[in-house]
Amino acid sequence: MATCPDCFCRVDSYISASSHGPMGHVHEHPKDVQETTMNDLAPVEDAMLNGDLFAKAFVARKHSALNRVKPEYLALAMRKIDAVSEREVVFAGRRMLMLSSNNYLGLASDPRLSQAGVEAIRYWGNSTSGSRLLNGTNDLHEELERKLSWFKQVETVVAFQSGYMANLGVLSALLSKDDVAIVDKLVHASILDGCALAHAQVRSFRHQDMASLERVLNDVGHKANKLIVVDGIYSMDGDFARLPEIMALARRYGARVMVDDAHATGVAGPHGRGTADHFGIDEPDIITGTLSKAFGCIGGFVGATKEVMDFIKYNSHAFIYSTSISPSVTASLIRAVRIIEDEPQKRVNLWACTHHLLSGLKSLGFDTGVSETPIIPIVLGDEITMFELVARMDADDIFASPVIYPACPRNKPRVRISLCAEHTLSDMDRVLDSVSRHGRDLGIIQ
Ligand SMILES: Cc1ncc(COP(=O)(O)O)c(C=O)c1O
Repeated sequence: MATCPDCFCRVDSYISASSHGPMGHVHEHPKDVQETTMNDLAPVEDAMLNGDLFAKAFVARKHSALNRVKPEYLALAMRKIDAVSEREVVFAGRRMLMLSSNNYLGLASDPRLSQAGVEAIRYWGNSTSGSRLLNGTNDLHEELERKLSWFKQVETVVAFQSGYMANLGVLSALLSKDDVAIVDKLVHASILDGCALAHAQVRSFRHQDMASLERVLNDVGHKANKLIVVDGIYSMDGDFARLPEIMALARRYGARVMVDDAHATGVAGPHGRGTADHFGIDEPDIITGTLSKAFGCIGGFVGATKEVMDFIKYNSHAFIYSTSISPSVTASLIRAVRIIEDEPQKRVNLWACTHHLLSGLKSLGFDTGVSETPIIPIVLGDEITMFELVARMDADDIFASPVIYPACPRNKPRVRISLCAEHTLSDMDRVLDSVSRHGRDLGIIQ
């Protein structure tokens, strides 16, 4: 197990899950990590295990942070949605303003994507019924990859079945036990899982702390093969990776850089290409992302030089041993790329709403952490207040996500808001009105 010299945290992924909603990942304080470790169970519980795998899982569940949450609050974490439109959902017979979706550009319910999908399903049927290397490649996959590589301005892009699979696929193929992945402490769980699958050495640096990154680079030394891995936009904090500085350090220390641009692709930069576009710099050595957020469908991608991608294609188990993206989804994605390129107005509106809400929350006195993007957390001091605020927003027909440890540090539970291009400034005013009333009542703001 690798240890981080800066924070002495253990970098592993056993507490990792999706980074959305209350379950998630963070490797913050050694104390927190220990609390979830099976080795630290009370002896009496240890005795109860009796070598039974299920008993072990139940005891672990008992110790998890979620177990402390009152059932009425827990119900806010898995609300069963009855219908969706671009900016609203129907839940329990109520039409609610959706502030919890990754549908950044509103494409998830765009009829043009649906139409493209329907046409493809009529021609190709429901599934490719095979992996890309065998019978699972058709014209649609190749067209999607060409379009994505043009859009992302990288030589070659290969599509995967999800963003999670893309990270797993590229890291497990490229890294091996002698290589070192140097990761920001808040990278997505799929990155840690990919490194674990590769049996790579993992070192972490403090979130966005360039001095910490440099210390790790120094410590690892020149001989080891090094890959710095960061998220483009961090999913729970909404801040951009400091990519220009990271690239400069990488050049100085002979490391490669990979950016998971899941939340930035389609969203950030004058062309919507993502984090590098936002900073006006070239793409890093490897770029990965999801097709389930701004692209409104499902899938993932990895982009790099043709040479690197040829290697990935023939060495990535996630690519080789899994059925390719279905024809209907691939056709919808091709349409999505065109819309993202042709309709910059969507992004303009998304960012107008972002700036309006962020500045409104700040001027009311809310703590929005380091957010600078359409992911906006309202950071609170304790879980009860956080859940109470989500419950009150829910009563106002506003759907936002409660986030607790391990998706964020234990002392920083948050209401996570994510915006969509279809939101309006008056939607943002409605949110500000709701949270200002409840925030005062709960003593969060004055
Ligand atoms: C930063 C980041 N990377 C990767 C993923 C995984 O993407 P997907 O949902 O397509 O598997 C997510 C989504 O949760 C994410 O937030």
